[in-house]
Parts: sequence; C-alpha cells; structure tokens
Amino acid sequence: MKLLTNQKNLSGSLEVPGDKSISHRSIMFGSIAQGTTTIHKFLRADDCMSTLALFRSLGVQIEDDGQVITVHGKGFSKLHAPKEPLNVGNSGTTIRLAMGILAGSLFETTLFGDASIAKRPMNRVMLPLEKMGVTCKGIKGSEFPPITIQGTSHLQPIKYEMPVASAQVKSAILFAGLQTKGETVLIEKEQTRNHTEEMIRQFGGSIETSGKKIKIKGKQQLKGQEVIVPGDISSAAFFLVAGLIVPGSHIVLENVGLNPTRTGIIEVIEQMGGKIFVQETDKENQLGTIRVETSELKGIEIGGALIPRLIDELPIIALLATQATGETIIRDAQELKVKETNRIDAVAKELGTLGASIEPTDDGLIIQGKTALHGGQVTSYGDHRIGMMLQIAALIVTQGTVELEKAEAVSVSYPEFFKDLAKLGVK
Ligand code: S3P
Repeated sequence: MKLLTNQKNLSGSLEVPGDKSISHRSIMFGSIAQGTTTIHKFLRADDCMSTLALFRSLGVQIEDDGQVITVHGKGFSKLHAPKEPLNVGNSGTTIRLAMGILAGSLFETTLFGDASIAKRPMNRVMLPLEKMGVTCKGIKGSEFPPITIQGTSHLQPIKYEMPVASAQVKSAILFAGLQTKGETVLIEKEQTRNHTEEMIRQFGGSIETSGKKIKIKGKQQLKGQEVIVPGDISSAAFFLVAGLIVPGSHIVLENVGLNPTRTGIIEVIEQMGGKIFVQETDKENQLGTIRVETSELKGIEIGGALIPRLIDELPIIALLATQATGETIIRDAQELKVKETNRIDAVAKELGTLGASIEPTDDGLIIQGKTALHGGQVTSYGDHRIGMMLQIAALIVTQGTVELEKAEAVSVSYPEFFKDLAKLGVK
C-alpha cells in the first residue's frame, strides 16, 4: 500500500476507538460473572473479535446489536467444552488470559492462532498454572501454540514472584486464583497495567493491591455490570506523535483513558519538551482530553519502571525520537522482542530504511536525532503497531514515496486508522 506522505497542518479533534485491553477483559469478566453485562464502545477490531468468538465457542451467549454488546454470564463452572480448537488469531491477550480462565475447566481445550502467535512464548503462563495443578502442553513439547490445556477442580493457590513484567501473565494467574479455594499472592517484577484488578472490583469482587504485591481470594461471586470502554491511549499515541512532528499541527483527542498504569507516553512527551496538554474531564472514570501541537523536541533516556507503562507505545516513541535533537536511549525493554513481532529489530530496520539513525540493542534502541526521513519500501511484519507507526513516519517524508507491505495488519487494533487520519486533514 502506498502511504500518505509530505503532510502539513494536521488539525481537528478525534475520539479514538475503545481500549483493547479493557474490551478483551469486558467480554471475559462478563462471561465468568453471574448475570448480564452490557458493553458500550467495545473495540470491534480483529483481536477483540477473537476474544468474543472464543467465549461464544465456550458456550457463552453474547449478543451484538452493532452498538452494545450483551454478555449473558453464568460463572466459570458453566463454560462448555468447545467443539473445535479455538482460534485466537493474532491476540496474545486472548490466549494468555483464556488459559487462566480455563485453568478450572474440567475439559481439554486447544488454543491456536496465526503465524505470529505460534512464536509467542507461553512458558510464562504455563509454569505458574502448572504449579496450580493445570496441565498445559505446547506443540511438540515446546512452549509455543497450539497449546492444549486441561484444567482441574482442585486448583491450588500459589505464592508467585513473576519473572517478567507482564499484565497478561498477572491476569492469567488472577483468573486462575479466582477459582481456587485459598489465597493467591503475586509479586510483580514491575507494576503493569491494572485493568484486571480494577475490573475484579468493578464486578463486585475484592482484591488487595499494594505496590507490586497482589492478593486474591478464590471462590468469589462476580456480578454482571455495565462497562463503558474508554478510548485507547495506545491508539491515541499515533496521533499524539503525528501532531508533535508534522509541521503546523494542532490535534485534540477526546475521551482518552488516563489510567496511570498506561500514561507513560505523556510523561515521555513532556520530558522531551513536547507541547502536550492533558485535561481530566471525568476523574472517576479516568477520562480526559489530550491536545498536542508541533514541537521542538530533545532526546531523553527511557527505562526502568516507566517501560511497562508505555510498552506498546515504544515503536511510535522511537519515531518521535528520530525528530528530537540529540540522543534518545530506550533500555529495559527486552519484552519488545516477544511482541507481535520482534519490535526492537522491526523498528530499527524499517525506520533505518526511511533514513533514521537508529541502532538496536539487547534491551532497546539508541536513536540519534534529528534526521530527515525519506521514501522507501517498508513492511509492518504483520504487526499492527509497526504498520501504524510507519504511516505516521511517512507523513513527514518530503522526498520520494513510502510503500508499506502488510498494511492490513492495522485492523488488529484499529480498523478505522486510515479514516481517522483523513479526519485530521491528511490528504
Ligand atoms: C496487555 C499487556 C501487554 C501489552 C498487550 C496488552 C494486556 O502485554 O503489550 O498489548 O491487555 O494485558 P504483556 O503482558 O505481554 O506485557
């Protein structure tokens, strides 16, 4: 696909689509709670549709009238054995969280996905679940999908120190912990997005959290709720960066979720000297409006506890750094290697093709700015966030054209991405 290049003066306001993490979880919590859950502003993107289809295959009645999704929950114990292996598509969140939910099921389930899922590590979920009594097997004795999982009615609570900072792993253990007869204690390596913990409370359950320590008791009754999904800050991130780097721009993003475990990118933009203005419009639901303007930026260092708070934004932050004066160092981000693709290598290679000065390291990237980007032939590697980042990069290409392979990957999290870009005046 030929990308849009050589843009100026982006302006306007947008409401970005619903949060992907919360959309997945709303179907999951709706399914394991008693009674009806209604979901507003659900993200109808490939990943979340994989979750919806998976829970239908497990016997949950889920209706979609095109506006509101209604989930008729019956509790963990009423999930049915699926007739066929379950396809999670490209979605790591679907497969890992579903494994935690299936930990207490008395039937065997096989979960598989696309070529990217077949390379995603699952030991991080299999090992703690096995400690709890679950039997999990990857293909040919490996940790890779297809995964066959056989739950147990005698799930054991565990005390577990997580070796990786991962909200997916944490969530899988919490879903399994909810099905034990005792108390499960988790210690996070770094604090990660806390949507699962928040939704346990929203659905009437209780969970103790203090810093990196989490305690959850099993056999709690969850009750169906009305969920209004906030706008996804990870989708907003692409337009925030567009507004900062395309000359003469002024962009407003409305109804963006501002959960502090997700807002690392705002801090990074502020530290780089970007003109970003955040107005909290609904404190209780952590919603706000974010405004950005074209800015002079400077390089910074990004690492440590900040990384999980912006993990999905690192590809677009790397692009931002190519337009900042001086050096930007991203470290402690080795998790990027096991995302939808190896995002350290993909970002370095594709932005390098467009003329950026960017070097991959073992745990991140080193970027020298500011560089003028030029045209070239690039690929998303089938990774939605790499595809969208490359389209934003193309906006500031003034010489030559940019051809993107595998552009269709964008629909994994943002099917309306190119349309929304047009709303900001991109021609
Ligand atoms: C997610 C957690 C993160 C993130 C992913 C969504 C979630 O993955 O990258 O896009 O919804 O829990 P990890 O848990 O592997 O860090």
